[in-house]
Amino acid sequence: MSGIGHSGAGSLESRRAAALERLRPVGQDHVLAFWDTLGADARESLLAQVESLPMDVIDREARAIRAGAASAESVPAGLEPAPVLRRRDIDTGHWSAAGARVIGAGRVACFTVAGGQGTRLGWDGPKGIFPATPLAAKPLFQVFAEGIAAARARFGAMVRWYIMTSPLNHAQTHDFLAAHSWFGLGAGTVTLIPQGTLPSLSRDGRILMASPSAVAVNPDGHGGAVRALRDSGALDQMRREGIDTLSMFQVDNPLVRVVDPLFIGLHAEHPSSSAEASSKVVPKRNAAEKVGVFCASGGRTMVVEYSDLPAGLASSTSPDGSLRFSAGSIAIHAFGVPFLERIAAGARALPLHHAAKKVPHVGIPDGRMVEPASPNAVKLETFIFDAVPLALRALVLETDRAEEFAPIKNAEGEDSPASSRTAQLDRAARWLESRGSRVARDASGALRCEIEISPLTACDASEIPASRIPREVSAGERILL
Ligand code: UTP
Repeated sequence: MSGIGHSGAGSLESRRAAALERLRPVGQDHVLAFWDTLGADARESLLAQVESLPMDVIDREARAIRAGAASAESVPAGLEPAPVLRRRDIDTGHWSAAGARVIGAGRVACFTVAGGQGTRLGWDGPKGIFPATPLAAKPLFQVFAEGIAAARARFGAMVRWYIMTSPLNHAQTHDFLAAHSWFGLGAGTVTLIPQGTLPSLSRDGRILMASPSAVAVNPDGHGGAVRALRDSGALDQMRREGIDTLSMFQVDNPLVRVVDPLFIGLHAEHPSSSAEASSKVVPKRNAAEKVGVFCASGGRTMVVEYSDLPAGLASSTSPDGSLRFSAGSIAIHAFGVPFLERIAAGARALPLHHAAKKVPHVGIPDGRMVEPASPNAVKLETFIFDAVPLALRALVLETDRAEEFAPIKNAEGEDSPASSRTAQLDRAARWLESRGSRVARDASGALRCEIEISPLTACDASEIPASRIPREVSAGERILL
């Protein structure tokens, strides 16, 4: 018995020595500071974590942090607004029919990135569980599931659903969906894919420890989707099943049209698309709105984060007074599966960005927990929109914010549950009005009734069955269609 114990300890010791050899040259050996206080299991799990750390990447980013670089990427010179397609310039019927054929052939799957931490909302649990709709209080996941079920029925084809989780919320997400019977989609057609993590670093580039035996980590950003889709076997599954298009959206937007035939048709067949990376945008509300902007440089389309867009460009206007750089990203994309395979094959092709965050951690050497009141750490993450410039031709479609974008990001104010609720009610009322209903409004045009329309009933105004359209919705009425 003791022999086994010794040989186990011996191998732990040699692994510890190897770990130190990786950590020491890059000034991170404090990760093993509590080694002497740890039991065998804790030592084992700490070593496993250290062995999986991409030390070269961490060292490069730690140096950049110490050098004061805000981000691994700098904005290229000569930025122009990206070319944008507008509905009025295209034959929407033609492209929607093209998209319907692509979806009907079973070539499309949905992909929701839901691995974020949702710290701004302050909701305890995966954001997809958040009750989002105005009357039925349906969780976000249910809204998307209903959209997918509606697409399957309407186009007569399987539409799989892939959901990216993080190791921090995977189990809760799985349990929630399982407890709700996968909202009727069929367990085998919904696949959860946990994304990778990266260590959180202090502001002087040191790896932070969540406990004496665990490195503090954060999900590696929605750009982690590329690797996660490959490593989980999802891309292989799609290839086997003839799925060549991913309709991608974020977990926080209940107005998203999860499978939009117009967008899919343009992505798949329009001459300005290479069927690799397409995106929807909305006109920015004003120069200061905090959304990424689609720009072009050297023949490539790219998203420049609001914090990186030089102020002079952000506020520059065209002769008619409109913003030049107004194509605001709403994080709705269509990606070609072969394209994702190609970029997944390039190791860490997406650049790492740095975000200031509050990260609780243990102090070294005292081992006391530190609960920071203000951002004390740098989170490393990749962004999926950094895939856009890697496409041969990236299509950008302008859409209507009021129809498709009302995210729930903040606890209050803009992009909050309250603002999203208002946008959902407004859209439902507009849809009914466009089909001839009289909807109660006050003199200022504000709604005096509440209407919610399930994606199972309609994914746009034209889909509402005539038999369900009320002639009138009176003041105080609440109707659920
Ligand atoms: P956000 O930028 O809103 O980040 O993510 P967040 O982490 O959810 O929220 P905050 O900043 O802490 O408040 C946009 C989308 O990308 C997903 C989120 O789940 C959301 O759908 N995401 C973000 C991931 O899937 N993984 C990540 O690592 C980060």
